[in-house]
Amino acid sequence: MSAAPIRVEGLNHAYGKGRLRKQILFDISTEIPQGEIVIVTGPSGSGKTTLLTLVGALRAAQEGSVEVLGEQLRGARPAALERVRKRIGFIFQQHNLLGALSAAENVELGLRVTGAHRPAERRRRAAEMLEAVGLGDRGGHRPEQLSGGQRQRVAIARALVGRPAMLLADEPTASLDRASGREVVDRMQRLAREEGTTILLVTHDHRILDIADRIVHLEDGRLSTFTDSVIANHKRTMDLVARSSRAEDLETRVRDLDEAGFSQLLEELTAEAKRFVDAMALGNDRAFSGLLRQALFAFTHKLSQLLDADRASLFLVREGMLELVVAKDLDTLGEVRFPVGTGIAGTVAATGDIVRIDDAYADDRFNPEVDRRTGYRTRSLLCLPIENREGHIFAVAQLLNRRDGQPFSREDEQRFAGFIASLGVIMESLEVLDAGRRPIQGGTQ
Ligand SMILES: Nc1ncnc2c1ncn2[C@@H]1O[C@H](COP(=O)(O)OP(=O)(O)O)[C@@H](O)[C@H]1O
Ligand SMILES: [Mg+2]
Repeated sequence: MSAAPIRVEGLNHAYGKGRLRKQILFDISTEIPQGEIVIVTGPSGSGKTTLLTLVGALRAAQEGSVEVLGEQLRGARPAALERVRKRIGFIFQQHNLLGALSAAENVELGLRVTGAHRPAERRRRAAEMLEAVGLGDRGGHRPEQLSGGQRQRVAIARALVGRPAMLLADEPTASLDRASGREVVDRMQRLAREEGTTILLVTHDHRILDIADRIVHLEDGRLSTFTDSVIANHKRTMDLVARSSRAEDLETRVRDLDEAGFSQLLEELTAEAKRFVDAMALGNDRAFSGLLRQALFAFTHKLSQLLDADRASLFLVREGMLELVVAKDLDTLGEVRFPVGTGIAGTVAATGDIVRIDDAYADDRFNPEVDRRTGYRTRSLLCLPIENREGHIFAVAQLLNRRDGQPFSREDEQRFAGFIASLGVIMESLEVLDAGRRPIQGGTQ
């Protein structure tokens, strides 16, 4: 397809008339290419839902240009709006399933609007779609018999069963816990990629930002220049971070940097993070915290590569406990927490001393619990404390198993320490951004 499925130019929107008129969107311009996943973030009341309903032809645009799937929606007649709507799949915060119908029947409803298929074919496609969202065995269940996450997956199946050109989602994970939210967006992402479906997803859930090809930020009705200005001012580093909105991409990009290049990149990002946390009231900027978070995952991974270790992990010290925040198997591990003073990382947090061990199982400070949970076998280990700018130990970094089977050397220790200082600042920035709201979680490693 040549033209972008969504093209917005100079869009203004206001609710109410006369003295009650209140402008909500100001001069919005953006273009979303075929097959892209774009996330719109922004605080509550910033106009995200309004933007989504305009792009979704749920209301007519008043001023500017909104071209969706080749149709101009400004001043469009109801029939034209409906024509566009039929080619879009919608997912809302609440699943909006019909309680009297089974999951399969709800999904079928998504096909009825198109009127294109016979009942038997509708049933077949609905079953196939339920299978695709991992609910092949739940077709006969009514919504009340399903969990929140499962209901939202039924809503995805319903939205996608008619193979819409485009999917619009408004806070689809807002009522879900972390694990179900993750599953919902992962399914959405996978299906969209397979079908080349364009997705516009509105959310203020920073835990799901990583599925986006691009993140745009709405603030007081204006598409924020936040990332743009960051990029303009600090081209190299932030370009890399901001445009690689998925952790795997970022990983690919840092993979080929040599040690000096990586070092420089880390330094730049560190300076950036410092400057932002110091200078700006970023307390609730989820988009930036999402970017930093992804950087942390990708950079930690890169570190294990540079130091030829099998894996690297980071722990945060919080209220006398260590929390694992970056590790390869984090998603399957579940939450890993243990008290300061126990295990190697806990010892390092308590004493501030670097620990280097050749054979973990021969050391009685080593706690094999995580190994047991992952089926991993730790041999050599290098563990360092990370201090915040006030000189308190607030995190611990750890390298496991040198790939050549040798123990870690003094030289490894010094190189690791050099990088860790930078990672520490990024972690500290995240701590400030999250302001203790929730632990740093997510990512792909
Ligand atoms: N139908 C409406 N009539 C009048 N004002 C509205 C309507 N819908 C939303 N608003 C107002 O527009 C602003 C943006 O709302 P909304 O687009 O829902 O933001 P968000 O989805 O980012 O929370 C809010 O101040 C809200 O009160
Ligand atoms: Mg909203």
